[in-house]
Amino acid sequence: MSKRLMSQIFDEVSKLYDPFLRAITFGGINRWQKLLVEILDKEGNRLDVGTGTGEVLKKSTNRGLKVGIDLSMGMLKRAKDKCSYCYFLLADAENIPFKDLSFRTITLSLVFRHIENRRAFLKEAYRVLERGGQIGILDINKFSGTKLLSFLMRYPLKPLGLLLFGRERWDFFLHSLENALSIDDVEKYLEEEGFRISQVKKYMLGVVYVLRAEKT
Ligand SMILES: C[S@@+](CC[C@H](N)C(=O)[O-])C[C@H]1O[C@@H](n2cnc3c(N)ncnc32)[C@H](O)[C@@H]1O
Repeated sequence: MSKRLMSQIFDEVSKLYDPFLRAITFGGINRWQKLLVEILDKEGNRLDVGTGTGEVLKKSTNRGLKVGIDLSMGMLKRAKDKCSYCYFLLADAENIPFKDLSFRTITLSLVFRHIENRRAFLKEAYRVLERGGQIGILDINKFSGTKLLSFLMRYPLKPLGLLLFGRERWDFFLHSLENALSIDDVEKYLEEEGFRISQVKKYMLGVVYVLRAEKT
């Protein structure tokens, strides 16, 4: 999946993105995002990677700057409408345009599985985080429950999905779900790039996880 296609797809779905996400998670997304921001340090600047429509920053109570980056201008425009006091920038997670040690915390909500070169991203995250800084990841866990969600998207939810988004975009969402990593794999990536896992919580029978790791 090229980054250009990814940003094009998110541009196109940006209008329907929030209501659709709320519907398919039965409202759970709001609770999980609140938890994601609650488990992180409240001090310092926060960078939300793949910020989309800016929901995580809108829910963030950190006392420093709130900065979001994304590849999709369509999503960023929605974000700016929602959070006027946040800063948003068109930028790639694999090439973060900020100087070393700029942030106390980094958040990713439903993004880690979309990132093509996760090692390049984690190296960038490590570079821009302060010493002892934290990264919080909310995403879908690949395990048997993911198969159920993928089954629902392939069959009962497909007509609705095709109606709302069309084939190319629906296939993209399905592919990104099936591209999800297990929590063990995410932990391994983080540890190999110099982070220490300090908290992991699972929701929706383990389909969704929220994880916190510290820069060592
Ligand atoms: C599923 S949406 C999640 C949006 C938001 N974080 C949320 O929880 O609703 C994934 C977002 O990640 C962005 N994204 C994917 N790969 C990216 C990358 N390499 N750099 C920056 N943003 C990226 C997409 O453009 C999209 O807006």
